Amino acid sequence: MRTALPALRWRRPLPVASCRQGAGLGGSEAGPLRGPIAAIGRSGPAAEAAANGGRGCHARAAVGGAARCRARGSERGGMAEERGPAVVTCTAPVNIAVIKYWGKRDTDLILPINSSLSVTLHQDQLRTTTTAAASRDFTEDRLWLNGEEVDAAQPRLQACLREVRRLARKRRGDEDASPLNLSYKVHVASENNFPTAAGLASSAAGYACLVSALARLYGVEGELSEVARRGSGSACRSMLGGFVQWHRGERPDGRDSVAQQLAPETHWPELRVLILVVSGEKKAVGSTAGMQSSVDTSPLLKYRAEAVVPERLSRMARHIQERDFEGFGQLTMQDSNQFHATCLDTFPPIFYLNDVSRAIIALAHRYNAHHGRTKVAYTFDAGPNAVIFALEDTVDEFVAVVRRSFPPASNGDRFLRGLPVGTAALPEELAAAVVAEPVPGAVRYILHTKPGPRRGMSKETKRQGLQMSPGGKSPSGCGKTQGEAAREMVLEAAGSGCWGWRRGALQPARHGTHWAARPA
Ligand code: DP6
Repeated sequence: MRTALPALRWRRPLPVASCRQGAGLGGSEAGPLRGPIAAIGRSGPAAEAAANGGRGCHARAAVGGAARCRARGSERGGMAEERGPAVVTCTAPVNIAVIKYWGKRDTDLILPINSSLSVTLHQDQLRTTTTAAASRDFTEDRLWLNGEEVDAAQPRLQACLREVRRLARKRRGDEDASPLNLSYKVHVASENNFPTAAGLASSAAGYACLVSALARLYGVEGELSEVARRGSGSACRSMLGGFVQWHRGERPDGRDSVAQQLAPETHWPELRVLILVVSGEKKAVGSTAGMQSSVDTSPLLKYRAEAVVPERLSRMARHIQERDFEGFGQLTMQDSNQFHATCLDTFPPIFYLNDVSRAIIALAHRYNAHHGRTKVAYTFDAGPNAVIFALEDTVDEFVAVVRRSFPPASNGDRFLRGLPVGTAALPEELAAAVVAEPVPGAVRYILHTKPGPRRGMSKETKRQGLQMSPGGKSPSGCGKTQGEAAREMVLEAAGSGCWGWRRGALQPARHGTHWAARPA
């Protein structure tokens, strides 16, 4: 693991395009780039030319929109000079599976043993932000995750890079008129605003974001879930918003193992998601190793993939289509339980749930039993944090139940994050029926969110700017998180001058100011 900073080349700050949704490279929903991506910025060769003296180039075009910047590059066709860095910043959402993927039939191509189905969560609350730059001056690929440099030679990152470049080459044809040379090395900085590797699908958002940033960097459009899948299986589902199915596919080359949107997030506007963060710790057994061990040793997993999942998928799709919370909730809980049963059936067994997770499961069942129907449904990925689905009208009461069951350890500040939660008086009869012995501090905080689109944040979040991981300020003390500092390094190394996050977009930096925006 390396941490040295890339050599900085200080130049006059350049404008990075702030592509709004529906415009420029950000594209519209009907646009050609299919993905969850909010393209926040891209500076291209035109902008770089400005950095090199600002003569006769399109720095202004870059301010106005990357699309224009890029269009000019291609208009010039073969005349385009290879002037250096291109920089792209994208965001991507997390998804949570309600019919789980667990097990690969091809570990290299990342082909699953069963199809899966997930809900994409809103980027206002959970997202990865990735800045990618390519430059002739880079001597090697480099990658920073949440501010720490990690090995960029890792096969999955390289597979994504290779695939995006292959698509770029295909698109460009024999006559490579693109200004961005495909042999340039890349620098990538990626940051999550939620706990990494704690069963909150960080790799899904991470690779979806990486692939989207690289695709935009190289001007690749079209179906990209197949490429994201090469980074992490679940990442292919984060390339789309709303309710998404990842088809197992039949082909050995994986060309049909792609994600497909079943319904947009607007299909079920009342659906809400509460993430009960129990632990921010990295899990002991990663998904990749865990599922391989299950494939090798669990007869239950084989049975599940062959006999259980196919029927569950069609049933789940129907419940979603009919907005049937009872059916959706029950099946979500059953599938989560079966996934964790296969973990227990693995030899040696894998334990992702802990005592608090199990207490939450029991609480959800008592709550539903008290109401005589399914009002909340839990699901757990490869970690102890609970994801609870509920309808809007249930949120306030259930949060009050959780608060009573797991009272905040501190004064309760920031116990509730994300979308607003109203204060509900907890009827004593309900409390007596569902609240067991309270366990103070067991739930660290609750994040309230909802299904989200494939790309973009609300105008409000953009206006506030992008808040990155809570805490983790860089030693510079100017309010930046380490991840933000890494992104700046990438930008600076790419010759883009000094940049910071202000007003939801990368802007020329104002030194000494706090770029990390207010909490969303
Ligand atoms: C439990 O996608 O992280 O979250 O393909 O090896 O990268 P790799 O695994 P990953 O596994 C996710 C497993 C899960 C269930 C799911 O998201 O469907």
